[in-house]
This record gives sequence, C-alpha cells and structure tokens, in this order.
Amino acid sequence: MRSKILNIKNQKNKSKIVCLTAYSKTIAKILDKYCDIILVGDSLGNVLYGMENTHNVTLDTMINHGISVKKGIKKSLLVIDMPKNTYNNLLKAKKNAKKIMSATKCDAIKIESNKKNYSIINNLVKSKIPVMGHIGYTPQYKKRFKVEGYTKYEELKLINEARKIEKAGAFSIVLECIAGETSKKITKILKIPTIGIGSSKNCDGQILVTDDMLGLSGFYPRFVKKYVNLSKIIVKGVQKYKKEVKRKIFPKNTNSY
Ligand code: KIV
Repeated sequence: MRSKILNIKNQKNKSKIVCLTAYSKTIAKILDKYCDIILVGDSLGNVLYGMENTHNVTLDTMINHGISVKKGIKKSLLVIDMPKNTYNNLLKAKKNAKKIMSATKCDAIKIESNKKNYSIINNLVKSKIPVMGHIGYTPQYKKRFKVEGYTKYEELKLINEARKIEKAGAFSIVLECIAGETSKKITKILKIPTIGIGSSKNCDGQILVTDDMLGLSGFYPRFVKKYVNLSKIIVKGVQKYKKEVKRKIFPKNTNSY
C-alpha cells in the first residue's frame, strides 16, 4: 500500500485527521501545510459553478480542478471525487478512475455509497486504485437533506453499509450528517478511519468545505463553523479599490509603467 495512504490509516486512534476541500492551486497551497487530506469535492458544482446540486458535474471538470489543486500540494493526500454517473458499472468505474488518477496524479478517489456499489469499490481497490467511501447524506443519491442514524433501524443500516465498504477495501470513509452516537459506533467498529462532516467529534477526522468555513459560500448549516468571514474582508478591499479608482488615487506612479 502507498505510504501516504498507510499514514492516514495509521492515524486512527492516535491523531485526528485534518481534511478540507480545495478546487484550485491557490487554495491548496495555503491548506497543504495544515491538512492531512485535501479533497477536490464535487461540491464544486454548487460552490463554484452555482449548480443546484452535484448531479451534472463532469469528469473533465473534476480532472481540471484536480490538476490545478495537485500543483499546490507538497505533502497532503489528494483525493478526488468521482462525479455521479461516472462509476455506475465496473468497466466505467475503472476506466474513469484511472483517467482521474493518471491525469491529476492524485492519491485516491472518493465514491458516494448507494448501498449497492460495494463491488465497484472492491474492483477499483483490486486495480490498485485507493478508494475513500462516503455514507450518510450522499448528495449524488439523496433527494433532500436529512440527518441519518437517529433511529435503531437507521443506525443498523449505516453500520452495515460502513462494514461493507470497509470489507470492499476502502482506506477510509466519510460520514456525512450522521447522528453522533451512531458515528461513534461506526468509528469504534471500523478499522479504517472515519472522516466526519456534521457527524460529531466522535469520528477519526473532520472535513469541511473550505469555502463554507472561510465564510465565502454563504452556506452555514449547523455543522459548519465559520472560522473567518472572508466575504467581509473582500468587501472591504473591493470598496477601497472602487473608491480609489473613482477618485483617481489608484494607480499611483509606483503602480504604473
Ligand atoms: O463534495 C464534497 O466536498 C464532499 C465533502 C463535503 C465530504 O464530498
């Protein structure tokens, strides 16, 4: 197994795994020093492209952003999301995952679970393509947002799903918007690390969409903590720029040729 993947697996029960999303070299370069994993998430459909959901994100879009992000990374593990309908049969999954891996030189791909695609994960892993799983709220397959795992029935279903993904060979798994007690049980049962988003501190690591936690996206559900309000900072800068252009303060001679 590749050493970066092994390092992530070895962090379980030792050190919390720090993950964030990036869609460009500029952001990846800033995050790299502080993150264990950088994910090029298909959330870029909503966040960057203003789509209603992630369903129409294309493979080429993920590859282009993956190539950009890779240029900003020196040490973090780079994971790229496979968009919807690019892995719905064994042949297609292998062809497209290989395309992502070879074009971007990423370390792994992420696949959302639809409770049926375990053999696809297994097939990719057997083809030496490291896979991160994703259960709970999986925007490619769920029609509306819902926290899962509050009832015993849901809890058992999620535990079963997580177990099957681990058995299929995934090296880690994202738990999205799963009740804290259920996340705790899944994290305890699995040998692979769980990466939570809206799934409590009981997970082995945490991930957030960077644009959300920096206050850029305007998306602030309960599970997002806004660490800075970059929008406010940008507004201040742009207001000042506008004022200076209007008043002919900018550009000065020092900014001119
Ligand atoms: O697409 C994405 O950014 C994700 C994370 C929210 C885990 O899947």
